[in-house]
Amino acid sequence: MMIQSDNSQFDARANRRRFLQYLAGSASVAWTGGGLAHALEAPNRLPDPMVWAPRDLDHLIAAPKDAINVFDFEAVAKKTMQPQHFGYMTSGIDDEVTLRANRAGFLKYQLRPRRLVDVSKVDMSIELFGQKYPTPIIVAPTGGHGSYHADGEIATAKAARAGDHLMILSNQTSRAVEDVLAARGRPIWFQLYASNKFEVARHHVERAEKAGCLAVTVTVDRSGGRNQEQLARLRRANPVDCTACHETPNGPAALGSHGKPMYEGVDLSGLQNTQASMMSWDYLKRIRDATKMKCIIKGILSAEDARIAAQLGYDGIIVSNHGGRADESGASTIETLPEIIAEIGGKMPILIDSGFRRGTDIVKALAMGATGVAVGRPYLWGLGAFGQPGVERVLELMRTELLAAMQQAGAPTIKHLVPSMVKRA
Ligand SMILES: Cc1cc2nc3c(=O)[nH]c(=O)nc-3n(C[C@H](O)[C@H](O)[C@H](O)COP(=O)(O)O)c2cc1C
Repeated sequence: MMIQSDNSQFDARANRRRFLQYLAGSASVAWTGGGLAHALEAPNRLPDPMVWAPRDLDHLIAAPKDAINVFDFEAVAKKTMQPQHFGYMTSGIDDEVTLRANRAGFLKYQLRPRRLVDVSKVDMSIELFGQKYPTPIIVAPTGGHGSYHADGEIATAKAARAGDHLMILSNQTSRAVEDVLAARGRPIWFQLYASNKFEVARHHVERAEKAGCLAVTVTVDRSGGRNQEQLARLRRANPVDCTACHETPNGPAALGSHGKPMYEGVDLSGLQNTQASMMSWDYLKRIRDATKMKCIIKGILSAEDARIAAQLGYDGIIVSNHGGRADESGASTIETLPEIIAEIGGKMPILIDSGFRRGTDIVKALAMGATGVAVGRPYLWGLGAFGQPGVERVLELMRTELLAAMQQAGAPTIKHLVPSMVKRA
């Protein structure tokens, strides 16, 4: 199938839809999700989880400035962090097929650059809900930064501030939302795991709104248990007593006094968990109705759910498989993106995360129609390795790679990244 490249066409919905169907692998595959997973090869024996990291672990970088790519931080973080904390961060689920698929997915798409475009000046800025950011790279919500570095989310927020990145703060934060906002110096988004007790969710949303957050991101992909084998193995290798931090005398009821400030001052009686399996669209509607903030759903992986999110009045979605840590679907998010774009592209911002490490990864997603790209583990590697300077350098490396990738693609602005710049390998 030959695709004509024409920058002026990026608003032509019909062409775009056809193209996205082509990118998804087969125009005859219905957008049920099953067809996409089918395209993935699932090897029986999987390589080491650090396959994407440098192999030469004897020569670690001594300072953030020495890093030549984001993977350089992973090996340092592995050395500096508590093994079980590193194991928790690095883990996927079961055989980690999805974890690897997230990276392998990018190899299934190639770039189709345009030449002779003046890219001496590149504007990487995006606009989200009326706010302009100089970069489409977003700090994904991840819980408990205090386990990776003593400065916790404050370090992350200051690093996000240095590059003016949008930051999404997890409600499992080890620092209060008010303090993180002050450190970031610009409104952030708040991420919510809803619990079985709606009043707790409402409290979090109201507190975040009052503090000055712009949006609430409801994560909907953690309804079940999970088998994180890396965590289990590394915890076994380092048998320390974790109960002081991780187990409260009264179960979740004592969360506030155990390094989870968002639970302070909340009536936690009856709270059975912090991530509810009973969540339904009705619950999502109640959250939507409980706030004036923009509402985003994180963890959408099918066109059907994307459609319902739009119908329910949600303002945006994040295509995410939680970095391969939620369910073992086997499908990468980059391969899932086309069906979501085909369904609701142009109706609301569509963000994506899971496995983004390189500027070219980001260019592929933006060209396919994503509005922004969130990253998780890379900045946690930076945080665990060097604190704030580490996070800053990780984000800087990603911006630098993105800039070069946009220039090479022939795109002076994000709008110049169009579907015809990507083809199936
Ligand atoms: C250690 C860790 C903790 C996470 N905690 C949260 C969380 O509290 N809330 C949430 O919505 N997602 C959480 N995530 C998922 C991230 O928001 C994001 O979807 C994922 O990290 C993206 O994949 P990547 O790590 O490959 O970049 C977490 C991810 C990691 C690695």
